[in-house]
Amino acid sequence: MANIVTSTAAQLHISPTLGINELVLKTRAEGKHVVHLGFGEATFPIQKDVLQIHRDSSSTTSYMPVAGTEELRKSIAEFNADRLGVSISPSQVVVAPGSKPLLFALFDILQGDVMLPRPSWVSYEPQVLHAGKKLFWVETDAHDRHTITEASLTATYDKAVSEGANPRIMLVNSPSNPTGHVFSVECVKTIKSFCKAKGIVLITDEIYSDVCFDETLKTVSAFDSNPDDSETVILTGGLSKTYSAGGWRVGYAIFPPSLAGETIRQTILAYASECWSAASAPAQLASVKAFSVSSEMNEYRKSVTALHKYCTTRLYQALKDLGLDVGQPGGAFYVYPSFSPYSAQLNKLGVFTSAELSKWLIQECGLAALPGSAFGEDDNGPVCGRFRLRMATSYLYFRDEVDRYENGYALLEACTSGKETQLPYLEEAIKVLGEAVAKLKNVQV
Ligand SMILES: Cc1ncc(COP(=O)(O)O)c(C=O)c1O
Repeated sequence: MANIVTSTAAQLHISPTLGINELVLKTRAEGKHVVHLGFGEATFPIQKDVLQIHRDSSSTTSYMPVAGTEELRKSIAEFNADRLGVSISPSQVVVAPGSKPLLFALFDILQGDVMLPRPSWVSYEPQVLHAGKKLFWVETDAHDRHTITEASLTATYDKAVSEGANPRIMLVNSPSNPTGHVFSVECVKTIKSFCKAKGIVLITDEIYSDVCFDETLKTVSAFDSNPDDSETVILTGGLSKTYSAGGWRVGYAIFPPSLAGETIRQTILAYASECWSAASAPAQLASVKAFSVSSEMNEYRKSVTALHKYCTTRLYQALKDLGLDVGQPGGAFYVYPSFSPYSAQLNKLGVFTSAELSKWLIQECGLAALPGSAFGEDDNGPVCGRFRLRMATSYLYFRDEVDRYENGYALLEACTSGKETQLPYLEEAIKVLGEAVAKLKNVQV
């Protein structure tokens, strides 16, 4: 029915991640086997103590405080203060049912238009547009699709201003979904000083910060708890990735203790009180332990990171050996290859965009991956962004939920103690990719 929803809401579509899931299910229903690299959901068994606290808390049914419990905010503040070496008070932290609604709320309440690196996680763009803001892409390095320079920031800013826009917000994400890349100290410095000079609020999405393969880069962040109003940096994070608990819905934002930071925090709290009220009570109680800087949790975070490193590095090496253009991931659980070296063969098959490539791979080769266009890549733009696919390795560990809990803890332990790891689903994915590339090589051009 026409005009039943607002024109802003009519821009919203089901997320491409869910769209690909549906195509995978349909293809499987036709009796075909599909290796699923399309969905970025962490699937390790949850840490045992955290799981027990959640079970023991199931009778806690009251609404929690809007900002989150004092204990949880303290745990999050201590965890991030320890990681970043800055002082953070629990009063700077706001907890929510996932970091996604917090990002949505931030785009909604902050003034001005938005600058986003190309490529960026699928949900930012719809959130920005839904907030009635204009979005301007910041171009990234041709090979790693992550590094941002002063020149690319300036070009985007100047373009926005010349079109009459008012760029006042920028969001960055490291380690990155979709590229798996991690910012260097220099890159963060460049972004931070640019935003400070232009009076831009910088949101740093650090949901993958624990899954960083080089320990020293875990501490690299634009957030420094600056108490004066010369700059405003907001950090977001959550339980979904490192702790494999996306469905529990716990995320957080940390605001600087400045006048601007406090104003934004108070506004977010008012927004939250009218929108989601509070995050789930049992999940908040269990998260106190999850974020704690305790030996058990440090060990858990270490083993999860070691396994993601093994899996993404093995996949990266295989993709490189197959002749694809791919940068080595430094964190998260994604690899972001481009099939552009096979553009001629793909064109011969009638495949001209990353979405068509994604469809061809599912239907003809039995492998699901998300198209780069879902992350803002331009199908008609420079070749570096074309035919990119985001491959998530997170579904390559276990057959199903039973396997996850029967074998998951042993797998994590084996990985931490340096034992050789065998991941049959990973090897299967590599085999299917090899067959897909062989198919392309056989196309006469
Ligand atoms: C880059 C990035 N940011 C934020 C989120 C949102 O996570 P959550 O709402 O579960 O905290 C995700 C989830 O996929 C993500 O990949």
